[in-house]
Amino acid sequence: MDHPQRHVFQLILLILPCFSTIAEAAAAANQTLIHDVTAFGAKADGETVSTKAFLSAWAAACSFPAPSTIKVPSGFFAVGQVKFCGPCKSGNITFQIDGTLVAPSNYTAFYEVKGNWIQFDGVDGVSIFGGTLNGRGSSLWSCKLAGGRNCPDGAASLAFTNSKEVVISGLTSIDSELYHIVIDRSQRVTVEGVKVSAPATSPNTDGIHVQMSAGVIVTDSTIDTGDDCISVGPGTRDLWIEKVSCGPSHGISIGSLGKEPGEQGVENVTVRSVLLSGTENGLRIKTWGSPSDGFVRGVTFDHAIMKNVRNPIIIDQNYCPNEKGCSDQSSGVKISDVSYRDIRGSSATLVAVSFDCSAMNPCSGISLQDIDLAYEDQPAMASCNHAEGLASGLVHPPSCLH
Ligand SMILES: *[C@@H]1O[C@H](CO)[C@@H](O)[C@H](O)[C@H]1NC(C)=O
Ligand SMILES: *[C@@H]1O[C@H](CO)[C@@H](O)[C@H](O)[C@H]1NC(C)=O
Ligand SMILES: *[C@@H]1O[C@H](CO)[C@@H](O)[C@H](O)[C@H]1NC(C)=O
Ligand SMILES: *[C@@H]1O[C@H](CO)[C@@H](O)[C@H](O)[C@H]1NC(C)=O
Repeated sequence: MDHPQRHVFQLILLILPCFSTIAEAAAAANQTLIHDVTAFGAKADGETVSTKAFLSAWAAACSFPAPSTIKVPSGFFAVGQVKFCGPCKSGNITFQIDGTLVAPSNYTAFYEVKGNWIQFDGVDGVSIFGGTLNGRGSSLWSCKLAGGRNCPDGAASLAFTNSKEVVISGLTSIDSELYHIVIDRSQRVTVEGVKVSAPATSPNTDGIHVQMSAGVIVTDSTIDTGDDCISVGPGTRDLWIEKVSCGPSHGISIGSLGKEPGEQGVENVTVRSVLLSGTENGLRIKTWGSPSDGFVRGVTFDHAIMKNVRNPIIIDQNYCPNEKGCSDQSSGVKISDVSYRDIRGSSATLVAVSFDCSAMNPCSGISLQDIDLAYEDQPAMASCNHAEGLASGLVHPPSCLH
């Protein structure tokens, strides 16, 4: 997220209490393998607010001591802010969504709401198959784009927090108010075959945001949105991104990092076989110019195609959106062992490769191999500041690493 409002939204706030009354859960439990939300009173008319029905179906599945499925039939279901909490008796709950969940009609319904529209917290073994989430973010974006000071932050459309063994498969997310999908403090989460879309001008609508999590896999997905296609926050380890196509967006971004001194590092990230078209950045690592104990190490970018991308390869350790409120210090984040292999295509900026690293903590172990980036039909340029590493194979523009 590049919009200044990000800074009030660094960590996802949890403000909804968990649905925890065991008696209520037990009462809702129906000894069946399929919990159809319409059997709990949900209406597919796009208007009747079905939040309670969804929570009751969740309570039934969560208290059922065996695998079960929550079914959302086709049609439009109006659902308000909802939090599905674990722990559950079952370690295997499937949401089969054939229809569309629509958020409350405009942002005033989310007023003073921070955090998430649909949140799963502390769950283990939840899978979501199919479905569309429509966050109806446009009135909030208008407020933000008009520079309104009293615009709420808005809500991320779907978040998994403190969860394990999660699958999100075949889901479509459109027009989120804020991030589309958030994975926070979770382990072993697979996001596959998802489709994310929001206008290129929609502020803060990152496609998939991962932080404080390990073992997240994102594959076979298509993301066109107004902010980062995928953003990787502090404390992310063992992240695998493969076969993702990013249309208009701000590209695939590690960071921004290093705003807070005690922030956790990012380690072992693989980005492979991605296509970036018309994005504001390609493969980016960005840190604030502030003291920090953070780090980024062990990142592999392997096989990427760029089509008219601004800044296809970029490390920016002086990240300061809008050039406001930045300290002018050198970044404390240590960046090491980052490799770029087989990155080709067209840059929309003359400088196609830019490593602007910290004077105090130069980037080390950068490797460039088989890079072929041109600026329109002309040779592109590379720019280096405090960047150490090696180039091999054909590298255009020629490397400036030392
Ligand atoms: C409970 O299960 C029965 C079948 O066993 C089903 O007919 C009924 O609709 C279910 N009720 C709810 C609320 O899911
Ligand atoms: C959950 O249960 C379903 C149906 O019983 C099964 O196909 C699936 O593999 C299970 N998933 C996990 C993660 O155990
Ligand atoms: C949003 O809802 C509020 C309250 O219902 C209403 O006053 C306002 O006009 C609506 N805004 C839009 C853009 O629909
Ligand atoms: C790095 O992460 C991948 C998953 O993305 C995992 O398979 C691999 O074991 C990790 N490597 C190390 C050294 O932990």
